[in-house]
Amino acid sequence: MKPIVLSGIRPTGQLHLGNYLGALQKFVKMQQEGKYESYFFIADLHALTTNPDPKVLHENVKNVLAEYIAAGLDPEKSTLFIQSDVREVAELYLLLNMHVGIGELMRTAAFKDKARKQLGITVDNPDDDIEDVARQLIGNNSNKRVNAGLLTYPTLMAVDILIQKADFVPVGKDQEQHLELTRRFARRFNSFYNVDFFKEPQNFNFGGEPVKVPGLDGSGKMGKSEGNCLYLTDEDKVLRKKVMRAVTDAGPTVPNQPMAEPVANLFTILKLVATPDKVQFFTDAYNRCEIRYGDLKKELAEDILAITAPIRERFKEIHSDEEYLRRVVKRGAEQAREHARQTVEEVRRIMGIHPF
Ligand code: ADP
Ligand code: TRP
Repeated sequence: MKPIVLSGIRPTGQLHLGNYLGALQKFVKMQQEGKYESYFFIADLHALTTNPDPKVLHENVKNVLAEYIAAGLDPEKSTLFIQSDVREVAELYLLLNMHVGIGELMRTAAFKDKARKQLGITVDNPDDDIEDVARQLIGNNSNKRVNAGLLTYPTLMAVDILIQKADFVPVGKDQEQHLELTRRFARRFNSFYNVDFFKEPQNFNFGGEPVKVPGLDGSGKMGKSEGNCLYLTDEDKVLRKKVMRAVTDAGPTVPNQPMAEPVANLFTILKLVATPDKVQFFTDAYNRCEIRYGDLKKELAEDILAITAPIRERFKEIHSDEEYLRRVVKRGAEQAREHARQTVEEVRRIMGIHPF
């Protein structure tokens, strides 16, 4: 039996370079190695926690599916499916929630961040405790609301993983806390019922550290909600323009000067897309105070386009073939459900739900 790999991306917009380098590229590489049984899905139920517009949701699901395939995921080699097609996920989500504490959910970084956004609370340090959020949530003195789906987001993610008994879950750095919770829920379930049932899944990075792709606007990560994305489907001109506008500084004035964050961010992306020789060339130029940021950006844009332009062109073709996309997810759902059904049957039995 091959180890099982599973991962998903929320369909909340077009995929960007961060999604590709942090997640999708790893999915493709793992698929190509042929050593795993792989499941890749579109997390539409997770998207509903923040983006519940029905028309946009449907369009985004189709986009991400076409982007998966355009980037190299092959329905003949991997099971590609839509999360909501696997209805067993909803059932296990209910069952697993009986063993999940609301306190631990409220302490997750992603929840604190998104809940604050929904409540309109701003803080200097996102790690500050959650009393401000908790007070507003429990108190009834505001008409603002954080939906329970957002709070239980980690349960749903754990269910995606545990229901397929995944061994490896390739995700970016920002998802590691959710993965840690998944392991905790699996251990808790096993020890509560005294079974050895759920596996504890691990992130997978081909031996390296998980990458975090920064934005080109000076600080922070590249993200759909940050409005600083280089999209896989950006036309050449658009992408070049975005890269040329990246924030830099006035340039180093003494040799080997430490890099300011915006400049370090450019190098971080360069290292992910360019040859080591090119990275060395620009690093040396910086250290000698001879760097021309314009040249660096031009090279960077071309190296990014070498990755994204072929994906963009394949995307256009695949996106227009609805019949094909329908076939892919229909078959994917059947395969994913088969596995999921077995897991839920077992869980029901373990929990004491069985026929007379
Ligand atoms: P976004 O943050 O843009 O909404 P998602 O949360 O949908 O993206 O992330 C989908 C996948 O892409 C996850 O595995 C996540 O870790 C990865 N990812 C997203 N942004 C980045 C980034 N800037 N760098 C590395 N990986 C990222
Ligand atoms: N939470 C993940 C993200 O924002 C998406 C996701 C949902 C996921 N379920 C998952 C990723 C299961 C890996 C495994 O990117």
